[in-house]
Amino acid sequence: MNKLEIITGNANPGLAEDICKELGKKLGGIMVSRFSEGEIRVKIDDNVRGKDVFVVQPTCPPTNENLMELLVIIDALKRASAGRITAVMPYYGYARQDRKDQPRVPITAKLVANLLTVAGSDRVLTMDLHAGQIQGFFDIPLDHLFAINVFVEYIQRLKLNDLVIVSPDVGGIKTARAYAKRLGAALAIVDKRRISPEKAEAMNILGEVEGKNAVLVDDLIATGGSLLEASNALKKAGVKKIFAGVVHGVLTGNAIKNIENSLLEELIITDTIPLPDHKKHPKIKVLSVAPLLAEAIKRIHKEESISCLFD
Ligand code: R5P
Repeated sequence: MNKLEIITGNANPGLAEDICKELGKKLGGIMVSRFSEGEIRVKIDDNVRGKDVFVVQPTCPPTNENLMELLVIIDALKRASAGRITAVMPYYGYARQDRKDQPRVPITAKLVANLLTVAGSDRVLTMDLHAGQIQGFFDIPLDHLFAINVFVEYIQRLKLNDLVIVSPDVGGIKTARAYAKRLGAALAIVDKRRISPEKAEAMNILGEVEGKNAVLVDDLIATGGSLLEASNALKKAGVKKIFAGVVHGVLTGNAIKNIENSLLEELIITDTIPLPDHKKHPKIKVLSVAPLLAEAIKRIHKEESISCLFD
């Protein structure tokens, strides 16, 4: 393991530290700051020649800063003759623009894949991509982890009877079905219509929810609009308690305040994105994915299979 090196930028140093603790390693030394005009300045402290370097940097807000930091760090590592560079992106930003769904729009998920590859990334380790097909935007190896087991364990401890797992939109059915199967729960879907990038409207609920306890599951929460619309619709349909399990807490604008004032009993997220002052938000529970990422990093480093992490 002495060829293994974990380093981080400014996106989520807490998660990188926790991964290192799991691995019993010290975080690699790096200086990541800014020049006076705002350009990113990076210096790797130690010799990384021939090392297997994992750069932990989710591209969460401030997305452009974090993405650019990641690219500059990869460039520095490449020029310092690192043996192999893995971009560890527990949250892969720019993923929601993953196809041309209207004329004259970009496919940013592919653009980011190109940028990472050109910068010098040899492989990518990521978690709960917005769309699984984004894997195909890379011509380098990509390992795609899922936080489902971390959530299932926590939801089981809530001991909710008459449980129904709800997907807040049609796109999330596959994920919701996987949760329902593991928890032995019923499945329902909210028929959502997106009015604008910031506003969603819940139309109908498909499935039996009346008198049940519901857990909405999703890959990310940004404005919180989708989740709150879905919870209002569930309440109207006679659901008792409503929880939400969302992997990436992007939580923009007033999302946290809106969650605190909502019908949700609890929003369960992970630490792929740092939540400042999380102890001050009584309705938000943060689960750690550091052990899962650490195990994946260890296995990738030792050239072992990671498929057991999906069981
Ligand atoms: C949509 O396809 C996603 O899975 C999320 O439901 C959505 O992006 C969340 O965005 P917001 O919180 O702004 O409604």
